[in-house]
Amino acid sequence: MKYTRRDLVKLGATAGAYLALGPKSARGFPSQEAVVTKPIPFSGEEIPIIGIGTRSYNTGASAEVMEQFRGTLKTFVDMGGTVIDTAAGYGRSTSETVLGNLIAEQGTGDDVFWATKVDREGRAEGVARMEGSFEKLHQEQVDLMQVHNLRDTSTQLGTMREWQQDGRIRYIGVTSSSARAYDAMVATIQAEPMDFVQINYSIADRSSEHILRMCGEKGIATMINLPYGRGRTFERVGDTALPDWAAEFCGSWGNFFLKYVVSHPAITVAIPGTTKPHHAEDNMNAARGWMPDAAMRTRMEAFFDAL
Ligand SMILES: NC(=O)c1ccc[n+]([C@@H]2O[C@H](COP(=O)([O-])OP(=O)(O)OC[C@H]3O[C@@H](n4cnc5c(N)ncnc54)[C@H](OP(=O)(O)O)[C@@H]3O)[C@@H](O)[C@H]2O)c1
Repeated sequence: MKYTRRDLVKLGATAGAYLALGPKSARGFPSQEAVVTKPIPFSGEEIPIIGIGTRSYNTGASAEVMEQFRGTLKTFVDMGGTVIDTAAGYGRSTSETVLGNLIAEQGTGDDVFWATKVDREGRAEGVARMEGSFEKLHQEQVDLMQVHNLRDTSTQLGTMREWQQDGRIRYIGVTSSSARAYDAMVATIQAEPMDFVQINYSIADRSSEHILRMCGEKGIATMINLPYGRGRTFERVGDTALPDWAAEFCGSWGNFFLKYVVSHPAITVAIPGTTKPHHAEDNMNAARGWMPDAAMRTRMEAFFDAL
């Protein structure tokens, strides 16, 4: 029997065992270790704790940049990544087209856990937008369909639930990345059954803790956007050296920030955005090796807060 990568992930196997591995990163960080997975509470399906965010992918890119997109996605998949987060609205509504075409070209579409989003008012507009996602991604089934920024949530979730029954969508959810929407997010989680919540969280901005706690209690999977605070975490550390105690389990500051996020007990997966192959490799390295426990997370916070 031939297993796809997704089958292996579902079976609890880990990517490190069967992937061609890239070169070791600085400090001999363990790029050869297995990719850590976490279960989606609703189903128990295991997914890698690091995915990729793709809001900057677009068809208007130069040939050189398109080659960079191609290399980034290939590195991501080769390193054991499966969760790709996009949206009908990203890249002037062309991110899904770029991703669908590049992944089809690489022949790895069946292995991807596709997460996308709908951003329309009303049932008819939402249906048309979501139909467009299936077409652009070249998929008959989307793994996770999300209401983008809580726009017309009840209507769009209603359609999604019907399509979930029909098997066109596997999981449904809602997204936000703004503290201004937290009250609405809390009200939505209380009112609407769903499988996933996508929300911002990073070591620099921990203000969505109450939403994470709520999702943990309700058995809702969480997908974390802005795990680098749109790059602000890197600006904060500047040229500060990674402390020795962190270098024992992190090969870079990127690993430090991502491991902090995905070691939160209520977090299922983080989706750092990148268009660079070496960043995709660095990010997937954060899915490997030892993960911080509660005491280490406190130490990481104290170090970062003191900068
Ligand atoms: N409301 C919503 O639903 C919502 C809102 C915002 C974001 N999102 C999703 O979340 C994803 C992530 O958000 P984001 O991309 O805005 O912010 P982010 O992940 O916090 O930060 C991305 C920034 O970090 C850089 N970066 C990535 N990996 C790096 C590494 N290993 N080392 C150093 N720099 C690195 C990227 O640059 P390079 O490109 O040069 O690597 C980019 O400048 C989005 O792509 C999108 O899929 C959803």
